[in-house]
Amino acid sequence: MNYRHAFHAGNIGDVLKHATLARILTYMKTKDTPFRVIDTHAGLGLYDLTKGDAQRTGEWKQGIGRVLETPQPPKVAELLAPWLDVVREVNGGSGKLSLYPGSPLLARKLMREQDRLTATELHPLDAAKLAELFAGDYHTKVIELDGWHAIKSFVPPKETRALVVVDPAFEEPNDFEHLASGLYKAWRRFGTGVYMAWYPIKDRKLVKRFYDAMSVSGITRISVAEHFAGRPAADKPMAGSGLIMINAPWVLRNELQTLLPWLTETLQQGRGAEWKVFDLTGE
Ligand SMILES: C[S@@+](CC[C@H](N)C(=O)[O-])C[C@H]1O[C@@H](n2cnc3c(N)ncnc32)[C@H](O)[C@@H]1O
Repeated sequence: MNYRHAFHAGNIGDVLKHATLARILTYMKTKDTPFRVIDTHAGLGLYDLTKGDAQRTGEWKQGIGRVLETPQPPKVAELLAPWLDVVREVNGGSGKLSLYPGSPLLARKLMREQDRLTATELHPLDAAKLAELFAGDYHTKVIELDGWHAIKSFVPPKETRALVVVDPAFEEPNDFEHLASGLYKAWRRFGTGVYMAWYPIKDRKLVKRFYDAMSVSGITRISVAEHFAGRPAADKPMAGSGLIMINAPWVLRNELQTLLPWLTETLQQGRGAEWKVFDLTGE
């Protein structure tokens, strides 16, 4: 439990994750029926980019910093608007960037009156801060709990529609195995849920093994989006990351095909910048 997301808040991985999270929730809101967001590895919820860990690494400058300072074509701007409107709102609408919303706060800001959020976080200090952020909010339940327990025991939720966000710290060597088995157990209990899990891509062999395991798991409608700001290497800082999704909205593929070329150009840090969207399994 040494991982502190504050070091990485707003970086290239968060850009891929949070832009996509906002697209999925935007789609889920096209139906009136309530949904629940279950965020298994929720983090702090809000990060101060001007102080402490985030300020020290400055990773956000290559991520959300570039996104905000680069002019966007109209179609890209339209697709990014739900996410970026929340980023602007938590900064008081000032146009300045000092605070960055993590996944539970972004989800909460995008939810409607009828929707609910369950956020679990294992680090006691982070869980306490997250609980403080949502104090008095009856839409949101924050629980200090192992996300690998939450992923299988909190589904299906009573709302029957849900997005399960899985964003592990990837500090344990077996996190990909945990992820594959967690997604499988959850899907067995709640096959109609929408799932989105994030992972760093440093060692492509490790990721291929994970994809192979998911492909033969029996889980249907698995899709993947990958983004690289440069060429990945196991012994270098993270240059790329991926999202594995189950039951993603059909429209998401087209949306990512519009967003990812722009994001790849905007976030590139050298040779090897690229993006991919593909299916691992069908119906
Ligand atoms: C990548 S960060 C989450 C960032 C957050 N999802 C966001 O997008 O803003 C991973 C978080 O998982 C927490 N964590 C690590 N192991 C966990 C576990 N087994 N269960 C729940 N949380 C865990 C870490 O303390 C860290 O806050």
